[in-house]
Amino acid sequence: MNAHISSLLFLAAIAATVTLHACSRDTAPLGDPVRGRYLVEQVGLCSDCHSPRNERGEFVAERWLEGSALPFQPTVPMPWAAAAPAIKGLPGLSDDQAVHFLVHGELPGGRLPRPPMPQFRFAPQDARDVVAYLRAPIHPAPAPAPTTLPAAANSAPAGR
Ligand code: HEC
Repeated sequence: MNAHISSLLFLAAIAATVTLHACSRDTAPLGDPVRGRYLVEQVGLCSDCHSPRNERGEFVAERWLEGSALPFQPTVPMPWAAAAPAIKGLPGLSDDQAVHFLVHGELPGGRLPRPPMPQFRFAPQDARDVVAYLRAPIHPAPAPAPTTLPAAANSAPAGR
């Protein structure tokens, strides 16, 4: 499937999900899943740990963000989680819990994730965008950046 068609399918799937969310939620709506995709795939690089790879070290497209054993270890003793769980769909966390986690770094009950999960401190709107993307039917591959992103996000300022 070419990249253009798959981007269109991705956006259509997101539109359907956002509509469902709007109908089923009575609290603040989640954010923008297209921007969330940018934050997950190009800024937070969540896939580095949360997506499994094949024996050649390449991401397995159809298991994008479905969790993985980590392919690396610390060189000094420290708390450590040897695997990163699935974050596709964010199973096990409510919207509010997931947003709280991304803004404050705390899981339900005040639990903290072990390294190497980064202690992210997303701005609240960014966290809602990330959660909206992870709840959407995720495009099963690290596809090219959506064409609806602002141009500035993809190009360096002139003169660099
Ligand atoms: C460097 C590796 C790494 C990166 C990058 C990373 N994570 Fe994680 N993440 C982990 C590990 C490992 C855990 C499990 C921690 C534990 O078991 O204590 C985890 C746990 C989580 C959890 C908790 C899931 C649960 O139900 O307990 C969420 C949610 C999560 N990560 C989201 C993200 C998001 C969103 C991003 C990108 C913005 C991201 N992670 C980037 C390694 C990573």
